[in-house]
Amino acid sequence: MKITASPSNETDIKADVIILPLVEDLRPEEYADLDKRIGGLITKVIAAKEFAGKQNQFTLLHVQNLKSERLLLAGLGKRAELTPELLRRAGGGAFSYVNKLGVHNVAISVRSLYHSPRNARNKGAERFQRILYFMEGGLLGNYRFEKYRKVSNGAGLKSITVLDNTPAQSFKRLNTVISAVYLARDLVNTPSNDLTPVDMSNQARAASGNKVKVTVLDEKKIKRESMGAYLSVAQGSVNPPRFIVMEYRGGKGDPLVLIGKAVTFDSGGISIKPADGMEKMKYDMAGGAAVIAVMKAVSEMALPLNIIGIVPAAENLPGGAAFKPGDVVTAINNKTIEIISTDAEGRLTLADAIGYARKYCKPSAIIDIATLTGACSIALGNAAIAMMGNSSGLMDELRSAAEETYERVWQMPLYDEYKEYLKSDVADMKNAGGRVGSLVAAGYFLKEFAGETPWVHLDIAGTAWHDKESGYIPKGSSGIGVRLIIDFLERRATGLSRGK
Ligand code: BES
Ligand code: MN
Ligand code: ZN
Repeated sequence: MKITASPSNETDIKADVIILPLVEDLRPEEYADLDKRIGGLITKVIAAKEFAGKQNQFTLLHVQNLKSERLLLAGLGKRAELTPELLRRAGGGAFSYVNKLGVHNVAISVRSLYHSPRNARNKGAERFQRILYFMEGGLLGNYRFEKYRKVSNGAGLKSITVLDNTPAQSFKRLNTVISAVYLARDLVNTPSNDLTPVDMSNQARAASGNKVKVTVLDEKKIKRESMGAYLSVAQGSVNPPRFIVMEYRGGKGDPLVLIGKAVTFDSGGISIKPADGMEKMKYDMAGGAAVIAVMKAVSEMALPLNIIGIVPAAENLPGGAAFKPGDVVTAINNKTIEIISTDAEGRLTLADAIGYARKYCKPSAIIDIATLTGACSIALGNAAIAMMGNSSGLMDELRSAAEETYERVWQMPLYDEYKEYLKSDVADMKNAGGRVGSLVAAGYFLKEFAGETPWVHLDIAGTAWHDKESGYIPKGSSGIGVRLIIDFLERRATGLSRGK
């Protein structure tokens, strides 16, 4: 997307549509000059109660005396109630409105955004922060997955002109973040026949650029590393696993390791899932997609940090070679695991990835992100990520990033009592307890592998996929985790004070 800033005004800009965000408690002087120019049309629609500036209210005006022919009034709601998230949603609504008009070139008037109060959290932020929130929502909502369609659904926006002198640098950041989210969404929406573990490793390479060193372990090497838990998940599929390691060195000190679950298709294996809705299990690699996308963004932003992304990709299928309930497997750290359900496969892949990171990467901290349990969406719906971990500091950092990005996290406990749930009669532990506490049991399982390393687990099973479009989150893959982790890393890079 071409985004430019132009300090010109609504009169002189030539666009297909000018978006004019307006608050509900508007003061006439905020739009009087423009209104006069277009023959008092704004006053008229307000007087006629066709437009009141309410959130999610839009009115399209055909105007004269401007170089552009159409003006879209976009309601923001009450000035004092405006938050970053409401700005994103308003942006999402406005962009989807203009998208349906089939136009290519849009301008955004930002006059009203300047008159809105700052969010308390962003006191120090530059004044155009609000424009960026609006644009962020707009661009996030503008996503379409059309790889498999012969006829495209929309004409597609090509350029956005912001009527302001916003610095190009902040658009650059925005574009980087948005294209990372788009990449994650594309990967997740792509069906598993076109996104096998090998495809995923190729995507990781393609996304990386020259600042990220990508190493891919094939089955032989995975076997040599004794990652028996991870390997057992993959063994039922003709599509071999790929253990993807992406290394970015931009700073000093021990690296932060990001691990993303990447089960390219989760049939459940021999403990097979019900057929109904199984097609959605192509999204079981959303954590891995987020990690690949974050690594791409990190290198484009040249963050002064050391970060390693690990994506243990595998496909979980039943078959003659598949692992079976009752099998005992040995992870990289020599712990033995009794398989109770082959459908509790994600934790097996992550256990070895965490073990690998601790053995080879000297991690200062580990964050894993995974569509790990159905119980996660039972507990939190699609409104929050379930967060568990052994480091309250790390969780606090993620909570701050979550508030900022609205990719919200909700902490779940990891009480020692849960250890009981995973006791095996034959091995060091088993991979699944019963239905009771299955969200936290999964977290507890991983905790046993994280040991002393500061670690946080993010379960995105409820948030990674949306059955319905909502605001700027499209139907299908949401790309969750990408903005959250980028924001978290930027905070680390700048010592919490982040200038966008
Ligand atoms: N990938 C699933 C979790 C999942 C379910 C993600 C629905 C998104 C939507 C995971 O591998 C799984 O099957 N978990 C089981 C674990 C159980 C067997 C202990 C679950 O949650 O049912
Ligand atoms: Mn499963
Ligand atoms: Zn799974």
